[in-house]
Amino acid sequence: MDKKATWDRFYTENGSKGQFKNFEWFFGFQSVKDFILPVLLTMSHSHSGPFNILDMGCGTSALGPSIYRASPCAVKVTCADISPVAVKLMEKHTNSASVQPCNPSSALAFLELDCTQLRGRFGTRSLDMILDKGTTDALVRSKEGQVKAGQIVRQCLEVLKPSGVLLQFSDEDPDARLVWLEREVRGAELTADVGVQEVGELRGVSYFCYQISPCTSPHS
Ligand SMILES: C[S@@+](CC[C@H](N)C(=O)[O-])C[C@H]1O[C@@H](n2cnc3c(N)ncnc32)[C@H](O)[C@@H]1O
Repeated sequence: MDKKATWDRFYTENGSKGQFKNFEWFFGFQSVKDFILPVLLTMSHSHSGPFNILDMGCGTSALGPSIYRASPCAVKVTCADISPVAVKLMEKHTNSASVQPCNPSSALAFLELDCTQLRGRFGTRSLDMILDKGTTDALVRSKEGQVKAGQIVRQCLEVLKPSGVLLQFSDEDPDARLVWLEREVRGAELTADVGVQEVGELRGVSYFCYQISPCTSPHS
């Protein structure tokens, strides 16, 4: 599940089923919004201008467009995916649905991007929030993908502002994910604080929100 061709095939099949419908790997915006919007609101007390937000591995999820539509704070949401098929579907749908923002200064963009190349696309300390709903989950299923997922987390820490946060929504148990995250961020130039909250249960599976924030204290 770390291969572009697999996802192109998946979104081509999904997109050919008639009228476009956002596909959520799990949970929609309503279930995760309380992990996102209050964080933006808190950040807004010490922030000016729109928040730079990246939905990493957006697929055809409505997460990015929903934040654009619902956030009272101005946001510049970039929805990025390795699959050009998913990105084109999202562009086409969002234009045709003419999604309107809550804040008139907000913006929404779609981008074909291999997120192992984040550093080449986004400047150091340029993003306020990075969202990952199911993307790391898909990558860590294979050995090769695990290496990519580690690279991605470390690059996230570089492109996030010191006040920024990476939120990973995942079905992976904290016993496994926290150990993995602690190990991967230890290899980063910047160290990070890692936390977890439970999101809820869907069809008998528990889902979690992992928060990874750059921290300025030296490695211990
Ligand atoms: C499990 S799906 C989750 C999609 C979406 N976030 C959701 O919640 O429905 C994983 C997504 O990650 C994308 N992906 C996989 N590897 C990637 C990479 N290296 N860079 C960017 N996106 C990637 C896939 O194309 C796919 O859309």
